[in-house]
Amino acid sequence: MRDAKAAAVRRQDREKHAISSGGALDTARVLREFLKKSILLTVSAAISFAADLPDGPGKAATIRVCSKCHAIEKAVSLRQDEDGWTDTISKMVKMGAQGSDDDFNAVLAYLTKNFGPEVAPPININKADSVDLESSLVLTRTEAAALIRYRTEKGPFKTIDDLRNIPGLDFQKIERQKSRITF
Ligand code: HEC
Repeated sequence: MRDAKAAAVRRQDREKHAISSGGALDTARVLREFLKKSILLTVSAAISFAADLPDGPGKAATIRVCSKCHAIEKAVSLRQDEDGWTDTISKMVKMGAQGSDDDFNAVLAYLTKNFGPEVAPPININKADSVDLESSLVLTRTEAAALIRYRTEKGPFKTIDDLRNIPGLDFQKIERQKSRITF
């Protein structure tokens, strides 16, 4: 009888111990998860700041509203007018972007002002040097070199299509900027 009681007490003790050490494990796990998450948050906050957006009214709202699902860099990857940005913002709202009306108005004004359609200067494709080609047409150095080599060998380009056959050049880059290209 005494043995049975002693065994029961021992069992209870063991259970208590198991529960409390289980609890300690849980706490450690929760803490670890929490730390992991806060490191991630810190890193993504750092990335948002690294984007180095132009200062101005609406910047804070834009970062807050537009960097929840993807990097802020993606949010500002377009260059378009107010109608274009209105469309993009409605698309994001349909996908779940959240904010007050004031937030969205601030975001729209900020994006339109700082990420409007670029009025970029024309570029003469027969005269431009490597640096011009790289910076205006977003070509790599290798692509710019290939273009210049082709131009030197075959003579001046006359149409956009002439650029299609340059080996190693991503023609889409040319096509995207074709309204700026002169001959
Ligand atoms: C609820 C999540 C969510 C939020 C918040 C959000 N987006 Fe997006 N966004 C997406 C998804 C999903 C895509 C498409 C998939 C991808 O490219 O990652 C996308 C893609 C984009 C693109 C790429 C081009 C396109 O149209 O697909 C732009 C530009 C963009 N978002 C801008 C914004 C702006 C500006 C805001 C703030 C008003 C914003 N996003 C907020 C989910 C969101």
